[in-house]
Amino acid sequence: MIAINNISFDYPITDEKTRTVLKNISLEIKEGESITVMGPNGSGKTTFARCLNGLLIPSKGKVIVDGLPTSEQANLTEIRRRVGMVFQNPDNQIVSATVEREIAFGLENLGKPYDEMHRIVDEMLEKFHLQQYRKRAPHYLSGGEKQKLAMAAVLAMRPSYLILDEPTSLLDPQSRKDILQLVRQFHSASLENDNSSITTIFITQFAEEALSADRLIIFYDGRIFMDGAPEKVFSNIKPLLEIGLEPPVKILMQNLVKRTSR
Ligand SMILES: Nc1ncnc2c1ncn2[C@@H]1O[C@H](COP(=O)(O)OP(=O)(O)OP(=O)(O)O)[C@@H](O)[C@H]1O
Ligand SMILES: [Mg+2]
Repeated sequence: MIAINNISFDYPITDEKTRTVLKNISLEIKEGESITVMGPNGSGKTTFARCLNGLLIPSKGKVIVDGLPTSEQANLTEIRRRVGMVFQNPDNQIVSATVEREIAFGLENLGKPYDEMHRIVDEMLEKFHLQQYRKRAPHYLSGGEKQKLAMAAVLAMRPSYLILDEPTSLLDPQSRKDILQLVRQFHSASLENDNSSITTIFITQFAEEALSADRLIIFYDGRIFMDGAPEKVFSNIKPLLEIGLEPPVKILMQNLVKRTSR
């Protein structure tokens, strides 16, 4: 479980001034959950995600990953092993000279035996349709291909928690569907196997992508605006529109039908 206990986060602006972008957030992320996070630009989603694996330490309150507080430096290596993160911009994440080395990189750091490492690299290249690029420099991939590579490299390490910060923002609609399906596959395959349950926290601006999650959390102005089952959250059409978020077309249509048949 990731316990988020009343956290706030301030970015320094000048020597004296700070800007509070997360405000008194408390949440529990339970093992096996699949969570979608939505919210307008600047509402604090990325800052929140970075607090979950200790890249940022809250200014107030605590984040505790499987009993380990992120505020203790000694816990950070273990926390980052458990909490995998795919960033909004894949260029910030890719470090290796070739596609296959990028997937192998984290596995090497985990000390995986050579044969197993090879098997996992092949499996990930195939799942993410990157086989033909295996010897290529990541630098020469398209934005969407880089996003897939960043995901493949993180998932290869089988984290307990997977945070995806708008991993589909550079993808075309078909690739977006493919990636979403892969995330779901990893999530449900892991549920069947108690040893490797992957909890997913998926940040997206596409309402349709939220419908398949167990839980939808809406951020607004550094706070949690709504938290619940996606269909239920999206049924609050007016407040969502007021903060600039559009529920999925399917929900809007259902609502229209309900209203006209009254
Ligand atoms: N390093 C920083 N220093 C100062 N302010 C920052 C910094 N990073 C982010 N911010 C501010 O914090 C607020 C929250 O940013 P954050 O990136 O968490 O939002 P977001 O919800 O992920 O937005 P987006 O949808 O655009 O990705 C924004 O107003 C942003 O300008
Ligand atoms: Mg963001």
